[in-house]
Amino acid sequence: MLLIQDVIKRYGALTALNKVSLQVEAGEFFGLLGPNGAGKSTLMSLVSGLRAPDAGTITLDGQALNTADAAGRLALGLVPQHIALYQELSPDQNLRIFGQLYGLRGSLLHERVEEALVAVQLTDRRKDQVKHFSGGMQRRLNLAAALLHRPKLLLCDEPTVGVDPQSRNAIFEYLERLNRAGLTIIYSTHYMEEATRLCSRIGVIDHGEILAHGTLDELLTRLPFEDEIRFPANPETAGLAAQLPAHGELATLDGTHRFRPRADYRLSTFFLLAESLGLPARLFTSQRPTLEALFLHLTGRNIRE
Ligand SMILES: Nc1ncnc2c1ncn2[C@@H]1O[C@H](COP(=O)(O)OP(=O)(O)O)[C@@H](O)[C@H]1O
Ligand SMILES: [Mg+2]
Repeated sequence: MLLIQDVIKRYGALTALNKVSLQVEAGEFFGLLGPNGAGKSTLMSLVSGLRAPDAGTITLDGQALNTADAAGRLALGLVPQHIALYQELSPDQNLRIFGQLYGLRGSLLHERVEEALVAVQLTDRRKDQVKHFSGGMQRRLNLAAALLHRPKLLLCDEPTVGVDPQSRNAIFEYLERLNRAGLTIIYSTHYMEEATRLCSRIGVIDHGEILAHGTLDELLTRLPFEDEIRFPANPETAGLAAQLPAHGELATLDGTHRFRPRADYRLSTFFLLAESLGLPARLFTSQRPTLEALFLHLTGRNIRE
């Protein structure tokens, strides 16, 4: 559906995107995961046609993206990182204005505004001024505005920053429903939990480059270890701990050992060893590695730094 090839974007001397290539298929919930300054919003602005790339191509269904024509504009919806609403006006008035920008008129406009208010649970506040709304309510309204014209591709740029947990859940559930109904979504975030929960495929971006992309499982298999095992660091487990550095990476923090076995070391071997030392299974918890570990592995930094 969306094909991004060798896209470069510079701001003066700064290269914000350096030869980014990505493909997003129809029906996907694609996550763009990266820390602040990675280039997520820049990429969103190129895909939505707000800015032009310095090099490379972006095509939607085989056609060069052309947001100058009505069809190109109608294909896309953008929920920008910074709320874009008329603060003095009500949800009703905001949605009517956005709907009209997309060419909706009369009873169709009326219908879509009603639907949108229900979908984002703002019917009871429809006549109030937006400036009195919480961040979460504004974000929900901004999302509704991006969907009035029923785009086939929705771009959501960090839509949960500054949003209370209740609104965040409402946003997640709404996006998941839309995606199940066939909407293709590109969702940028610096929260790995969000990418893990929502996205069918994820691209990890840092310093303007896509470092890895794939499903969560595909990404995690790039790590040189599989499950990690935690157990208490105490005299009882000292004999076991002494043997582990030969088979992987052992770290100790706050009275807990964390063991990341090398890919060729089987967990069954580990548990046999523990058993032979008389250590009960309840001492051990195993955990799948996370995107956080992947980011650390790819960049040497934590995503939140
Ligand atoms: N309008 C702009 N002018 C100059 N530099 C910019 C502009 N927008 C973004 N940048 C820089 O480009 C890089 C990528 O920014 P951005 O795309 O906003 O990243 P993200 O959305 O992942 O936080 C950052 O270093 C940022 O400071
Ligand atoms: Mg951004």
